[in-house]
Formats: sequence, C-alpha cells, structure tokens
Amino acid sequence: MARPVPQLVVALDFQTGAEALAMAAALKGIVPWMKVGLELYVAEGPGIVRALKALGFQVFVDLKFLDIPNTVRGAVRSCVRSGADMLNIHAAGGVDMAKVAVAARDEAFLEHGAELGLAAKPLLFAVTVLTSMQDPDNPILQGREAAQVVLELAKASRDAGLDGVVCSGQEAARIKAACGQDFLCLTPGIRVPDANAPADPNAPVDDQRRVMTPEAAVAAGSDFLVVGRPITRAADPAQSAQAVLRRMALA
Ligand code: C5P
Repeated sequence: MARPVPQLVVALDFQTGAEALAMAAALKGIVPWMKVGLELYVAEGPGIVRALKALGFQVFVDLKFLDIPNTVRGAVRSCVRSGADMLNIHAAGGVDMAKVAVAARDEAFLEHGAELGLAAKPLLFAVTVLTSMQDPDNPILQGREAAQVVLELAKASRDAGLDGVVCSGQEAARIKAACGQDFLCLTPGIRVPDANAPADPNAPVDDQRRVMTPEAAVAAGSDFLVVGRPITRAADPAQSAQAVLRRMALA
C-alpha cells in the first residue's frame, strides 16, 4: 500500500484563545491540523477545540494523560466528546492504562462520533520520551539511551492497541521497522535551518534536543510533523508554514 502523505500539525502554544484563533485563521487553507496543548487548553477548555473545528481544522488535543486507569478513561472520554481528532497519553503510564485509554476512545466514538460528525475514530498516540530529553541521567531514562527506551515503549504501545507514538524523527525509522509501517509516528522537535546562516550544529533549538529538519523527519518515516515556534513565532507564519510543507515534499 502506498504511504499516506505526511501531514503538518501546527502547535498553537498560546495563552489565549484570541491569539490562537488569529494564528489559526492565518494558516487556514495551508495547514490541515492544529494542536491544542496544555497552555491553551488550561486557559480555554474544550471550547477552543470546538472553535478550531468550526474553522475547518482537524484538531490534536495534546494533553498527554498519565494517571490511574479509571481517571484516564474519563479524561479520554471527555476529550473525544470535545471533538478531538487526535489525542494522546504517556506510554510511561503502563500497559493497563494504555488499554483502558484505547477502550475509552472506542466507546466514546461509538456513543458520540456521529453527533460530533467524526468521520473516523480519533487517533490515539502515546508519548514515548519527550524530545526535550536526551541526558541518560534523566530519571525516566535511568542511564539508558533515549532511542532504546523509545523503542520499548513503542512496542508496548502497539501491543496495547494504540495507533502510534510521539517520537523524535531520529527514532521513526527504527519504530517503523519494529512495529510495522502502519504504526504511526508523530514527530515534534522539527527545526528549519536558516538558509541565510552558516551551518551551525549548536544553533538554538529552544528547549528541544533531539531535533530534525522537516525533510529528514519525513524521509525517516514520520507520518505527522508537529511544528510550533518555527511557524508561530515567525514574522510571516503562513510563509513559514509553506516553507515547511515544501521541505516535507522534498523527501
Ligand atoms: O515550538 P515547538 O516546535 O518546539 O513545539 C513543539 C510542540 O510539540 C509543543 O507544543 C510541545 O508541547 C509538543 N511536544 C513535544 N514533544 C513531545 C510531545 C509534544 O515537543 N514528545
């Protein structure tokens, strides 16, 4: 089967709905997916998901659930009812929590999918190791390489029935090889080198560490690229989004 075209998701990391909706309006018709993360969701609640959907976007609700299974079940149900097209949990929450999340997603879709106008079940991803982490001394990694931990968490997530994992582009190829091509990879930590600046391996990448260019992430097998600040803090976000899409098409 031909590989589906990788899709761009813009991270709307803003304090207010007004700023987020203004950015979304500037990207309408260019970018298909918007991501609502903790900063925006805590400020605005599920109304912001509905507002973005009303503008015609598909919405990734990135709240990275990690709690006892019963609480995650309720959170996943509420998230699906808000109209999310994609949501996520932490793989570190364990297999029981992941299985409960899958079941909750399925139930909520069956109960509310039609009234919400959802064409397909919302995609459920697991966060493996945050792309801001690489130091083996980190308590999650406990001396192990991030790539190894990511692979183990990806396999466990696939076995629990998730659709895919959030991972660095640097890990996507190994995950696809181990978990199958249909197991989706969603990649944040995307950075676009400044064409006017000399190549600098220590160039600022904000708080991200395991970063990749759009074309490299697509070539490695990522199915969704999540890009925040390189687009939303650019002088011309629409132009920057188009530049990222052109780079994705290069791969
Ligand atoms: O601004 P930047 O491109 O770094 O934004 C990346 C986005 O992806 C942020 O919203 C961040 O919360 C999210 N994210 C991440 N790493 C993960 C999961 C999500 O950077 N593992």
